[in-house]
Amino acid sequence: MAFDAEIVRKDFPILQQQVYGKPLVYMDNGATTQKPQAVIDCLVRMYRTMNANIHRGVHFLSEQTTECYEQSRRTVQSFLHAPFAEEIIFTRGATDSINAVAFSFGEAYVHPGDEILVSEMEHHSNIVPWQMMCDRKKARLRVIPMHDDGTLDLEAFRASLSGKTRLVAVTQVSNTLGTVNPVADIIREAHQAGTRVLIDAAQSVQHLSIDVKQLDCDFLAFSGHKLYGPTGVGVLYGKRDLLNEMPPYQGGGDMISCVTFEKTTYNELPLKFEAGTNNYIDAAGLACAIDYLTALGLPEVQAYEKRLTQYALSQLKNIPGLRIYGEAPERAAIFSFLVEGIHPYDMGMVLDKLGIAVRTGTHCTQPVMDHYNIDGTVRASLAFYNTEKEIDILCEGICRAKKILLA
Ligand code: ALA
Repeated sequence: MAFDAEIVRKDFPILQQQVYGKPLVYMDNGATTQKPQAVIDCLVRMYRTMNANIHRGVHFLSEQTTECYEQSRRTVQSFLHAPFAEEIIFTRGATDSINAVAFSFGEAYVHPGDEILVSEMEHHSNIVPWQMMCDRKKARLRVIPMHDDGTLDLEAFRASLSGKTRLVAVTQVSNTLGTVNPVADIIREAHQAGTRVLIDAAQSVQHLSIDVKQLDCDFLAFSGHKLYGPTGVGVLYGKRDLLNEMPPYQGGGDMISCVTFEKTTYNELPLKFEAGTNNYIDAAGLACAIDYLTALGLPEVQAYEKRLTQYALSQLKNIPGLRIYGEAPERAAIFSFLVEGIHPYDMGMVLDKLGIAVRTGTHCTQPVMDHYNIDGTVRASLAFYNTEKEIDILCEGICRAKKILLA
């Protein structure tokens, strides 16, 4: 059956409501996505019928939750096409995943004078952990600049790679500009230079199909809540050999093999990186979201989002005085814009009163704002449950805001 967003929307209870007496038009999916009833039901069912701590009990409930948790790991493994289940580490989210690599990889592989490469369009969560690690290890953070259209300067990237570069950390999709970066090329070229690569997939995993084996990335991070799953759970994928060589990031229960006051030995992967009681309920919710998305049909969802992206671009570009920031030919359904003479917060507030939820501000990408010498933008970020009709409502809202604010 052809993908029909109007039908699919019915799976998302929150989208059925009105705000300020207007139908909710939710376009802040880059910040977090809404949850289908299947995910909500999964969380309720888990708490109602099978809650018990994982990996710790021999009793019925504990065995059930442990099996469910490990099944969730296998679901993520197959979604990412990872060769081994133990390469999937459950974390609190993409930020936690990147911090884990920055600490553990830094401890194992980074030495004074080494370099880490990030891009100018990274989210703060893919900048600050590397800055902290560079401070600790006396390494240097270098930046791949971007062009004004929001594409990466690949010549500069190549010129920055050297025998000192230990790792390239780059986003697959910019949360602010929507740019889809050519990460397969970046990974290949970095590997030719002997450099490891981490992909921030926080804004790509919901829009693109990811095959970590084919990409050959060394690490990949994403959050559950941006993939229609619960908050508080995310994923770190890492190549098994690398993860095996890296020290744990946190100490505690479950991550150990044997503890004495003299010496502690660590557990095998993946538990070595999962200290304490991990978020097994939300991991199940994330797996449920992946199952839901897979059942919708990833190719159909992606084809629909592509059409929606083209429609949004054509309609937004028709609005006089509106400038879109980020015009890469390869892009996801994320649109940052400003209207001449209107502060983004004012625009956001008028849109809000019309029932339209967008994000305003720097979107945790202050270097991107510095690049364009602006304080912030309005950002509409779409999901497969958005419709052309909603894009029309957004455009009408922008025009209405212009009339009110520029009067
Ligand atoms: N990183 C999220 C965003 O881009 C919160 O809005």
